[in-house]
Amino acid sequence: MRRTPSAPAAALAAGLLLLAGCRGDDAGRGAADPRAGTAADPATVLTTDSERRGETIFSRENCGRCHSLFAAPPDEGEAPPPGPPVEGPLGSRVGPDLGSEGHRHSDDWHYAHLYAPTVVVASSRMPPSRHLFRPEAGRPVPTADAVDLVAYLQALGRARRDIWAEWRRREPSMPPSPSVNATTRRRGAALYGEHCAGCHGPQGDGRGAAAPLLETPPRDFTAGRFRFTSAPAGAADADLFRSLTLGTGTGSAMPSFEWLPADDRWALVGRIREFSIDGAAVPVVAPPATTAGAPAISAAAGDPSGDAVTRGRRLWQELECAACHGEGGQGMTRQEAAAGWSDETGAPIARSTDLRHACDYKAGASDAAIERSIVAGLGPGMPSYGESLPDPADRRALILFLRSLGPTWPRIRNRP
Ligand code: HEC
Ligand code: HEC
Ligand code: HEC
Repeated sequence: MRRTPSAPAAALAAGLLLLAGCRGDDAGRGAADPRAGTAADPATVLTTDSERRGETIFSRENCGRCHSLFAAPPDEGEAPPPGPPVEGPLGSRVGPDLGSEGHRHSDDWHYAHLYAPTVVVASSRMPPSRHLFRPEAGRPVPTADAVDLVAYLQALGRARRDIWAEWRRREPSMPPSPSVNATTRRRGAALYGEHCAGCHGPQGDGRGAAAPLLETPPRDFTAGRFRFTSAPAGAADADLFRSLTLGTGTGSAMPSFEWLPADDRWALVGRIREFSIDGAAVPVVAPPATTAGAPAISAAAGDPSGDAVTRGRRLWQELECAACHGEGGQGMTRQEAAAGWSDETGAPIARSTDLRHACDYKAGASDAAIERSIVAGLGPGMPSYGESLPDPADRRALILFLRSLGPTWPRIRNRP
């Protein structure tokens, strides 16, 4: 079992005291360590200057002292579900192999983790790298070195294939939920304290110790308002189960917990429900009609000149999706869109999703997931298009158009 139980996430201040002398400036840094990977690793090709500088920083900081870079994705066959990173023995200081790290997490997850590992992963024995940050208006801001280091981490293992993108395009399996009893409730509370409280807060109010370090704040569960749903009215238990199975990819810091047994994930869904003001009285929403029975569309998926994609492009223009996502679907910041996007609590939504890359789709990138997002919307930032798109064939055409935007899975820019 990974991610060993431990004390609840330490407060930021406690993190500060940790391992001050463990900065990677020991003698004999990375270079001679056979476990430290290099750009010659066929699974990793560094294409930007930032990534190449990041590799130098990885060895300068002696990260290879604890991390190998072996776990390259297999050449062919279905990519395995991600699972937890492979860790050393329980509670050991040996870090997981980072060979497939690229696109496992968002950039802001990495920054928070580098700055204060134990607030993000309670049991972590990784030393913090505070020197890669500078204070600005009371918040730690990544230095150019930290930005390059994270660009390098995001490149690891993606030369041949992006297993995270492939995985996010699949709909996760969902075994039925077991019945709720005192044991499952206790289990849910224990798992929550161990894996979630650092970000979502011990009270579920989104104010965990890691929250100030993240670009997109963790959800406040006490409000009972969710964003990754199958209907505008709210989240079904299945939606919550899916969110914590998938995580939010590179879109924001919510990690995937696919590696926890399904019963544990259901116990966590129960725990989330207990936080909301009116307890479990959140309506269970029926999933929307899907395109499953829709008439077939003539063009092959992804053919940019096909009929369906042309129809999808027309809908994209008519519905003015580009006003918020950019002409090429690359996503926009609030400033670029000159939009006042804010979330349920009034906090700003930093940017709209980069629709060219499966990893950036926070609610998942399977056809069904994209359809859910378009039909139900994503909370206050992204409108619901259920009424504008009643015809399943139109929804399908729009999804095919979105697929045509990024057939080659371009890189996601690194956002400081
Ligand atoms: C003293 C050993 C040690 C050193 C040095 C170290 N790490 Fe770690 N690292 C760990 C351990 C243990 C974990 C597992 C717990 C966790 O996720 O924090 C980890 C986890 C990670 C993860 C998370 C993997 C995942 O996807 O969950 C990343 C990324 C990472 N380290 C990057 C770095 C980088 C970059 C450096 C150099 C600045 C570094 N580490 C230095 C021990 C170390
Ligand atoms: C590293 C920080 C972090 C950790 C750890 C974390 N979350 Fe999250 N979580 C987030 C963030 C950030 C969001 C908001 C994502 C967004 O809006 O893009 C989120 C969103 C969610 C959502 C989506 C709600 C919705 O609106 O549909 C659920 C459900 C959730 N988290 C459950 C959990 C559970 C359960 C755990 C523990 C097993 C957990 N999270 C651990 C950061 C975290
Ligand atoms: C008013 C601005 C706005 C318009 C118009 C808009 N979007 Fe969005 N969209 C957003 C924002 C902002 C997000 C991210 C929301 C968040 O992070 O909570 C988003 C998210 C999405 C997502 C979910 C991606 C994910 O992260 O899982 C999809 C799919 C999407 N938009 C497609 C479309 C399509 C197709 C159209 C046109 C029919 C459209 N959007 C029109 C602002 C907009």
